[in-house]
Amino acid sequence: MDTSNLTASSADPLHLYENSVQDTEIVINLVDRICRERGRDVAMSLREDFCGTGQLSVDWVLSHPKRTAVGLDIDRSTLDWAHRKNVSRLFDASDRIRLVERNVLDGTREVGFDVVAATNFSYFAFHERTSLVNYLRSARQALGEGGFLFLDVHGGPDSQFELEEVTDFDGFDYVWEQGMFDPINHRTMCRIHYRFPDGTELRNAFTYDWRVWTIPELKDALIEAEFQSVDVWWEREDEDEPSAAATAENLESWVAYLSAWR
Ligand SMILES: C[S@@+](CC[C@H](N)C(=O)[O-])C[C@H]1O[C@@H](n2cnc3c(N)ncnc32)[C@H](O)[C@@H]1O
Repeated sequence: MDTSNLTASSADPLHLYENSVQDTEIVINLVDRICRERGRDVAMSLREDFCGTGQLSVDWVLSHPKRTAVGLDIDRSTLDWAHRKNVSRLFDASDRIRLVERNVLDGTREVGFDVVAATNFSYFAFHERTSLVNYLRSARQALGEGGFLFLDVHGGPDSQFELEEVTDFDGFDYVWEQGMFDPINHRTMCRIHYRFPDGTELRNAFTYDWRVWTIPELKDALIEAEFQSVDVWWEREDEDEPSAAATAENLESWVAYLSAWR
């Protein structure tokens, strides 16, 4: 992305999002390590749920000459953007990716995926446990023997308070606003804004009406959806990569990863 002279009216929100929110290398490296540590073959086929701009699917395909990806998203205009800006980067390898306009609750006809991934907490959009479990069941059905569902999850006391966090990126500031948190139903409203050197601001570029699910709730829901076991991958202070953990020290704010085995 050309980051010179960005302003609220000229910047492309999805480009800003990719450059400030997504880090596909972390996901791909962790998926590879989970397979290694659990003695599985290298994962080849990915279904990326809530794929948005398809960046993970595209980087997955680029990470190995035999890797394939299917991405699902409900939003046609985001998928069109994904094709224009990301799938086009694949040239000949574009026959190894398919981005489909579909509700993740409806699943895919294809099954046998090595990994189904839902990243950036997208499944927090499910407020009711029944919807969450239906989604998890549908993800499980898409997995092949030995496959796993990969989820990220964030939490900690900070996730329950209103706050605004500003991060400086090349050419713009990324602003994460965590709005109200309701302790009875764990509903929270989060927003992403972008600020530019000329003083303009792109407010509410993205808005999320989420339920903050906890790790124990997720583990219970995954077992109810008939996953055989669930590992939690937690990054300890003295380590630079998450490792499998049964217990952890609480932090004000944390991101962890789950692998749920079919
Ligand atoms: C927070 S973005 C995540 C994008 C990307 N996965 C990432 O890691 O940044 C959520 C995406 O999920 C899509 N989405 C929301 N509900 C969905 C559903 N039920 N089925 C499929 N896609 C959905 C939205 O259109 C949006 O592109």
